[in-house]
This record gives sequence, C-alpha cells and structure tokens, in this order.
Amino acid sequence: MRNHSKAFLLLALALATVVDCNLEGDILHAQKLAWEDPNNVLKSWDPTLVNPCTWYHVTCNKDNSVIRLDLGEAGLSGPILPLLGNLTNLQYLELYGNNMNGTVPEELGQLTNLISMELQQNVLTGPIPSSIGNIQSLKFLRLNANMLTGEIPIEVLSLIRSGNLSVMNISDNYLEGTIRRSEQTGFSITTVIMDQKTFK
Ligand SMILES: *[C@@H]1O[C@H](CO)[C@@H](O)[C@H](O)[C@H]1NC(C)=O
Ligand SMILES: *[C@@H]1O[C@H](CO)[C@@H](O)[C@H](O)[C@H]1NC(C)=O
Ligand SMILES: *[C@@H]1O[C@H](CO)[C@@H](O)[C@H](O)[C@H]1NC(C)=O
Ligand SMILES: *[C@@H]1O[C@H](CO)[C@@H](O)[C@H](O)[C@H]1NC(C)=O
Repeated sequence: MRNHSKAFLLLALALATVVDCNLEGDILHAQKLAWEDPNNVLKSWDPTLVNPCTWYHVTCNKDNSVIRLDLGEAGLSGPILPLLGNLTNLQYLELYGNNMNGTVPEELGQLTNLISMELQQNVLTGPIPSSIGNIQSLKFLRLNANMLTGEIPIEVLSLIRSGNLSVMNISDNYLEGTIRRSEQTGFSITTVIMDQKTFK
C-alpha cells in the first residue's frame, strides 16, 4: 500500500511538473479554442510543444515565459478569457482591431507587469474593471471604439497619478462620468483621450 501511494505521488508530481512546464501554453491554447480564427493565424499554436515560445504572435523572455501577445487585426472573434490573467509575466496584450466580444475580464488586473493593454476596436461590452487599477506598470491603456458602459473606475484614473499610465484612450464607447477632455483634466504628462460622445 505504502509503495503504491508513494509511486502514485511520484507520478502525480511528475505529471504536475509536465503540466506546469507548459502552463502558459495551455492557457493560450484554451484561448485559441475559444476564438474563431477564420484566417488561421493561430495555426502554429501547437499545445504539444514544451512551451509556446516558438508560436507565431507570442514572445517569451529568456526564462521561456510569455511577455507579449501580438494579435492586433488578426480577424479573430470571441471572448477574452479570464485565464489570460494568469500569464504572470505578460507585458504587452495586443488584441486590437478584432471582433472580441463579451466583457473585459477583471482577472486581467492580475497582470501586474503589463505595460500595454490594447483592446481597442473590438465589440467589448460591460464595464472597465476597477482591477486594472492594480497595474502600476501600465503605460498604455487603449479601450477606445468598443461598447463599454458604466463609469471609469477611480482606481484606473488614479494610475495616472500614482502609476505609469501615460496614454489612456477610452473614447467611442458608452461610458458615463464627469471627466473632462484632456486639456481640462489637469494631468500634466498624461494624455487622457475621450470625446463628448463618450461623456454625457
Ligand atoms: C489562475 O489564477 C487563479 C488566481 O490566481 C488561480 O486560482 C487559478 O488556479 C489559475 N488557473 C490556472 C489554470 O493556472
Ligand atoms: C460573441 O459572439 C459569438 C458569435 O457571434 C456569439 O455566439 C456569442 O454569444 C457572443 N458572446 C457574447 C458574450 O456576446
Ligand atoms: C514605471 O516606468 C519606469 C520607466 O519605464 C520603470 O522603471 C518602472 O519600473 C515602472 N513602474 C512600475 C511599477 O512598473
Ligand atoms: C482615440 O480613440 C478614438 C476613437 O477610436 C480615435 O478616433 C482617436 O484617433 C484615438 N486617439 C489617439 C490619440 O489614439
């Protein structure tokens, strides 16, 4: 009995290690399965490889961890999976100009190394998650030209003062709020881009 459970434990550990090795590949592969990809841009995303670092549109650091996802104007449609929030080292999330629908997952707020979140020109609905305010490293936040509703979370706005946020374009959505146009916000370095259509 003892030996059996020991062997089982070792097997389980070995499997866990194998799975862990390609955890990021599994996350991206799950995202691939959730998207429609009529142009086959994700053809190289083979989940049987040891990591996703050789896949097109994916960039890794020297530790084989994903730091960029470059899928702007790729003809993709479908949801942005909350699981993307588990790509711990991601710095660039470039999903602009597709047909991504559904909401912006609040789990993206776990991406505390993110420099650029470009989700503009999709058909995203729902609110801007306040969790984005956790991303002190964020420099570029582009959510313009979607169908987002609600108010801009104060947590996100405060990144302008306390974090690195220098460009935030949220215009051409259905947001509400009291923030004025960039020349009236009083934030000196920051460009907050929005328009009258956005702010009623
Ligand atoms: C993703 O992250 C969440 C929160 O940190 C964790 O609970 C979950 O197990 C992770 N999922 C995977 C597949 O790594
Ligand atoms: C997203 O679009 C697909 C395809 O049109 C549709 O089946 C799905 O219900 C949409 N999801 C949401 C959340 O609107
Ligand atoms: C803000 O940006 C600077 C310069 O690019 C960088 O050194 C710093 O680590 C960033 N802050 C955070 C919290 O990522
Ligand atoms: C901000 O978004 C609007 C709407 O999509 C776009 O027309 C405008 O060019 C963007 N501005 C900048 C500076 O990116």
